[in-house]
Amino acid sequence: MQIQTDFLIIGSGLAGLSYALKVADYGKVCIITKNKIDESNTGYAQGGIAAVTYSPDSYTKHIEDTLTAGDGLCDSRVVALVVKEAADRINELVNWGAQFDINADGKFDLAREGGHSEHRILHHKDNTGKEIQRALTESVQNHKNITIYENHFALDIITQHHLGEIVTRQTPTIECYGAYALDLKTNALLTFLSRVTLIATGGIGNVYHTTTNPTIATGDGIAMVHRARGTVENMEFVQFHPTSLYNPGERPSFLITEAMRGFGAVLKNRQGEEFMHKYDKRASLAPRDIVARAIDSEMKLYGDDYVFLDATHLDSNALIEHFPNIYSKCLLLGIDITKDKIPVVPAAHYVCGGIKVDNNAATSIKRLYAAGENTNTGLHGANRLASNSLLEAVVYSHRAALHSVENYKHYSFQTDIPDWNDDGTSHPEEMILITQEFKELQQMMSNYVGIVRSNLRLKRAHDRLEIIFRETEDLFERSVLSQSLCELRNAITVAYTIIKFAKRRKESRGLHFNVDFPNKNPHLDFHAV
Ligand code: FAD
Ligand code: SIN
Repeated sequence: MQIQTDFLIIGSGLAGLSYALKVADYGKVCIITKNKIDESNTGYAQGGIAAVTYSPDSYTKHIEDTLTAGDGLCDSRVVALVVKEAADRINELVNWGAQFDINADGKFDLAREGGHSEHRILHHKDNTGKEIQRALTESVQNHKNITIYENHFALDIITQHHLGEIVTRQTPTIECYGAYALDLKTNALLTFLSRVTLIATGGIGNVYHTTTNPTIATGDGIAMVHRARGTVENMEFVQFHPTSLYNPGERPSFLITEAMRGFGAVLKNRQGEEFMHKYDKRASLAPRDIVARAIDSEMKLYGDDYVFLDATHLDSNALIEHFPNIYSKCLLLGIDITKDKIPVVPAAHYVCGGIKVDNNAATSIKRLYAAGENTNTGLHGANRLASNSLLEAVVYSHRAALHSVENYKHYSFQTDIPDWNDDGTSHPEEMILITQEFKELQQMMSNYVGIVRSNLRLKRAHDRLEIIFRETEDLFERSVLSQSLCELRNAITVAYTIIKFAKRRKESRGLHFNVDFPNKNPHLDFHAV
């Protein structure tokens, strides 16, 4: 079946939905999303969204903090642009119905997180993302021009490759005509033809064994663009959140927001010692890369599986008031955070790199935009500052919307696109083959391409990945399409890009730490590249 739409959106998190609301007054919009509309990384965000709101905070301070966290690889023009647009974009979120906590003075209640020199995080208790997702979902569901395709899995973007042309990375203009999708309920294959397409498929956490990301985060958009020969970059910078709840077997790992450290909780090792001051003068509020590495190092030093986050010295009522979800979740596991220290461990959380976009959110592929976590805008550089990603998503979706609305009429529908070719495929192979390959991939990435890397580990990872890749491609050739097999393929592609970029970087910087190149090479700073 073919469906024509002016604007095609893949993904229903903050990036996809905010773009939808902006373009929907200009034409027909279709949103493809592989699960329920509200299952996204966005819905899990806890801490909040960073923005300069009141003095003594200033643009200069937020810019400086972002650049410092990014460790020399941020594009300073992009940083300034995002920081300065924050207030306008947050007003729009409020107008769409998102509520942020207000203090006794009637002002936004601002939290503080690692790497921030000021309190500047607007939040809704400790489940900001759920509130934003709720507000946007309701607005989108009420818009007559928007059709939502839940449980539809985008397989690939359509380019001239599907018209039989040979497309390489040297092809001067690759063009996107829409996307193929699989209806997960009926197994029907759909061809969406669009004037313009936005990829907003979020993160990659499930490429790793332990992650805070929900299961939807398998890097599909990044893999699709890579397969279509678009530009993907900065992938070596995978952020591990320092404090996910240590609860072996739970997937995704439950996050203990950094805002709790901003509120006064401190990290201690299992011997009861505060250890962060040994690693950084900002102690528990140092940027994430430093805190995650410090925890990793303490755990290795003592052979422990976790460290503690201690909030027991804080006012109990205030703690419960600010972090009600964390309080209830921990209590369910027998941990009373007002009396007990919380066992925590780092977990894969966010990818700083992704699909390269310019300041209009345009990718290297014509008629294809990207926004949100699956992009590399230049904002995060080598390490994202906490709570800058919701902000980036909403700023770049806005920019994508402005540019799309200005240009979509210039593009007509490409009508001679063939249906997805599933000739020669048979019944699904045993699920065990797919799940086992996925587990191997996740273990291998966590062990060899995690917080601390080395040349040997990266080589091992590359060699192992080749085997997993060949076996999976073989399965893919022979099997009917299934979500799990497609996600495995995508995760392999993402792992490949992470390893490739990590091997290429002959230094340690931000989130990428290689024991064989322990120092930063200043010649590789952003402007020196
Ligand atoms: P997402 O919100 O992940 O949406 C992606 C969408 O794409 C989903 O709807 C998904 O189903 C869909 N999709 C994916 N693949 C396909 C496919 N093949 N076909 C169809 N649909 C597909 N950031 C902050 O700034 N502040 C925070 O406090 C914060 N806390 C966080 C806490 C947690 C636990 C996590 C996991 C992340 C947190 N982040 C935070 C990061 C932030 O939430 C994400 O970076 C951001 O929400 C990404 O938004 P997005 O729209 O790009 O992607
Ligand atoms: C958190 O609340 O600690 C997560 C914030 C983020 O990922 O930006």
